[in-house]
Amino acid sequence: MIRVGILTISDRSFRKEREDAAGPALVEIVQARGWQVAVQGILPDEEKRIRETLAEWAQSSIVDIILTTGGTGFSPRDVTPEATRRVIDREAPGLAEVMRAESLKATPHAMLSRAVTGIRGRCLIVNLPGSPKAAGECLQSIFAVLPHAVQLLKGDDSAEASH
Ligand code: MTE
Repeated sequence: MIRVGILTISDRSFRKEREDAAGPALVEIVQARGWQVAVQGILPDEEKRIRETLAEWAQSSIVDIILTTGGTGFSPRDVTPEATRRVIDREAPGLAEVMRAESLKATPHAMLSRAVTGIRGRCLIVNLPGSPKAAGECLQSIFAVLPHAVQLLKGDDSAEASH
């Protein structure tokens, strides 16, 4: 069972000025796969708070994957990639590359995504865009490899053998 943390990053959703649509949309997609949503949260676009939560969730060993949604664009408050980069030990750029490449087929705006994907300890952190539709599309484009990624992160020898 893959355990997932879902973190919505949005000033307006945090202040309850706008309902969080992306978080629940991701919960639905993850649960439809039969995976477990172990923890969920909403934070404002503040680098330090994002960093602290990502580190706490990754270190607590309650999640295999953290999905963030929002804060990956060009607006001055978009700091999710910066927070993520400061928390990860190792980058996993292939996942972000595929998400951008696949999203480009739907919209040229995909090249405005600064999403980062990387590893903290045994936890994979994936930045997704803020719109529920975009977040879902990006997640779908990398879904197939995530079980293998988690197996590898756990140091499962049989995962190496199935390369
Ligand atoms: N990816 C997909 N699949 N579909 C989209 O509509 N929108 C893009 C991009 N990725 C988009 C997408 C846009 S407009 C932006 S600004 C960036 O994601 C960052 O979004 P964020 O600031 O909400 O995180």
